[in-house]
Amino acid sequence: MSACCSCWAGRWAAAQPSRRAGAASVRRLGAARRSKGSSHRPRCDAASRASASEAGVGRPPTPEEPTTPLRRVPRAAQFQQKIAQSFDARAPSYEEGNTYHPAHANRVVQLAALQPGERVLDVGCGTGLVALPAAKAVGPGGKVTGVDLSDGMIHQAALRAQEQGVTNVRFLAADIEGCDFTDGRFDAILCSNALPFLTEIPAALAMLRRWLRPGGRLVFNVPKGFASRAFTVFADVLARRGLQLDDPSALFAKEDSVRSMLAAAGFASVDISASEEQAPRRGRPPAEWAAAGWAQCTALPFADLAAVLDGEAVEQLRREYLAQAEAVAAQFVTPEGDVAEPFHMLWVVAWAPE
Ligand SMILES: C[S@@+](CC[C@H](N)C(=O)[O-])C[C@H]1O[C@@H](n2cnc3c(N)ncnc32)[C@H](O)[C@@H]1O
Repeated sequence: MSACCSCWAGRWAAAQPSRRAGAASVRRLGAARRSKGSSHRPRCDAASRASASEAGVGRPPTPEEPTTPLRRVPRAAQFQQKIAQSFDARAPSYEEGNTYHPAHANRVVQLAALQPGERVLDVGCGTGLVALPAAKAVGPGGKVTGVDLSDGMIHQAALRAQEQGVTNVRFLAADIEGCDFTDGRFDAILCSNALPFLTEIPAALAMLRRWLRPGGRLVFNVPKGFASRAFTVFADVLARRGLQLDDPSALFAKEDSVRSMLAAAGFASVDISASEEQAPRRGRPPAEWAAAGWAQCTALPFADLAAVLDGEAVEQLRREYLAQAEAVAAQFVTPEGDVAEPFHMLWVVAWAPE
């Protein structure tokens, strides 16, 4: 799970390119927020626990701990609606004091090396941090389409396009996994800090590859494993109860697995680089960091704890989480008393076959 962040049956024409409403336009496709079941989720097996140990925050199992396979904690019902609601709530202030997402978005646009006249798709476009600079880079002869699940984020993106006088961009409020663009329609597809929110990531990558013209490129970033140890600790305390977090971090825990997933999605070649980044939650002493981590892990719909634990067990889990998370955060306290935890971000450029 990367907070800052997985196709289901029945694709449907949520975003018909032919029904475009014009430059810098917004389409609201509320029906895109379908409720999806939980039967096709990516599996996060032993690799998820491996990433916890790599981060150095787990502890070796004791003899009395279960050795049987972990039982998956279901995601919350209406997973996507909940993701959309959470970003709707954040949308008006998303960019306030936010240096993390703009820096990453700029790097994705740079890596894409966009050319005048190109047609670009921005997946999970949010407030347009990628789509707007991309529209400027491709110039008046080019076109950018931004798609996002959250009406609130799309509204902000459209406002910014208007403020900045960018007219070669349109924004669609839709689930990208339900979109049905024509094959070969885009020269480049960009995605910054959004991929882990998709529900069927390997299938979504194959779909994005089909939407690229021959030789077109997909450019995205994704945390290597978890973006924050808040989630590593959450996965760890669940694993000690024989429970497995259903999050996509295991898919991105190793560069080799990212390469294999992209090859399976039909990409011909892949460039991956890694950078050390600072997780965004800062400026808190460890106890507050731990409390905020618990709030974040339980607010996101990746784990429906109530489906597997009763109230008392959840409370016990919370206490165990807080103790472990505080100890973990203590390793990353700066001389000013802030918690500044590093993590690795992967930067990926994948080319469709010529
Ligand atoms: C952390 S934000 C990143 C936004 C933007 N790319 C940026 O760099 O600021 C993740 C975005 O992905 C969107 N998202 C999540 N799942 C999606 C889906 N299935 N289809 C389209 N957008 C989705 C969310 O609504 C949210 O706006």
